[in-house]
Amino acid sequence: MEYLRNTWYVAMWSQDLAPGQVIGRRLLNEPVVLFRGEDGTLGALKDRCPHRFAPLSLGKVVDGCQIKCGYHGLQFDASGACVKNPHGHQRIPPASNVRSYPVIERHSAIWIWMGDQPADPAAVPDFSMLGENSGHEVSRRDWLRMEASYDLIVDNLMDLSHTSFLHEGILGNEETIGAQITFEATPSSVKVGRFSPDVPIPGFFDLMYRRDGRRVDYWADIRWMVPACLINDTGVTDPGAPRTQGTGIFGMHFLTPETDSTCWYHFAAVRQNPITWGEPIDTEIRDKIAQLRRYAFEDQDQVMIRAQQHRIAEADEPLKAVILESDIGVERYKRIMAGLMSKERTTA
Ligand code: FES
Ligand SMILES: [Fe+2]
Repeated sequence: MEYLRNTWYVAMWSQDLAPGQVIGRRLLNEPVVLFRGEDGTLGALKDRCPHRFAPLSLGKVVDGCQIKCGYHGLQFDASGACVKNPHGHQRIPPASNVRSYPVIERHSAIWIWMGDQPADPAAVPDFSMLGENSGHEVSRRDWLRMEASYDLIVDNLMDLSHTSFLHEGILGNEETIGAQITFEATPSSVKVGRFSPDVPIPGFFDLMYRRDGRRVDYWADIRWMVPACLINDTGVTDPGAPRTQGTGIFGMHFLTPETDSTCWYHFAAVRQNPITWGEPIDTEIRDKIAQLRRYAFEDQDQVMIRAQQHRIAEADEPLKAVILESDIGVERYKRIMAGLMSKERTTA
């Protein structure tokens, strides 16, 4: 599978890499070791020692932000330079460097650049709502390893018509399928809006809103940004009332390929116009929302996408998808990615 490489992917949430910690993670089919020095600085290297090719992720962080191979002790700094050889005359052997990857910490996540062109910090998409000091109430920054190719999950998110069927009752229903669709695109983003006026309230939103099952206007405006970062502005309000009088969330989704058939799925949400019922009900509602969200991703989306992936993999003939009107966003984002990958191929 071909991946866009000169772009930022979320490697993990910042909170999941503590000072002194080392984590090995396969990203875009490459073994990567991520580590954090005691001073908080980050390193990301190819997870293969140039000596006997042991994974560096079995080593440990030493001397600030350096990593020491757990097998025979070669030591590397965050640029991948071998800085210490404990053996013999302690000469640093030529060609003992390891490939390093640019990493940047932003919006409470660690972003990694897997391409050979210079990393562009300005290209990190804007998810400042997730920042520690954004003033927003952010849900648990959660993640799953999905048994599905990352693009099948982007397809899933960019066609939210599936909520009426796969997440029936929770995130959609028979009536929400009749949504009015809007569409916007730039060279690096695609936005699909779905607006369903006067429909039964989906259960997930009923928990957040009045908790009385009354009919609402329901919106879900999802925006995709290169390569696989999405934000879903979704909520409910009284029929005919402005959105600002309703409630909802901004759902943030980050997909990073692990292998051709698996990916890392990081997600979090920010409440919009939170309605409070006072404690302990607010905490109970928050917990239920988090459970429901995880259930929808893990037990509904993942099950369906995994099964879909098997069907695609076993096909003994070239498959050509039937395109529906609801695929407008899927089609466009795929076209943008194909264009960027083809450009990357020709400049390589
Ligand atoms: S394999 Fe790393 S030092 Fe030997
Ligand atoms: Fe879904």
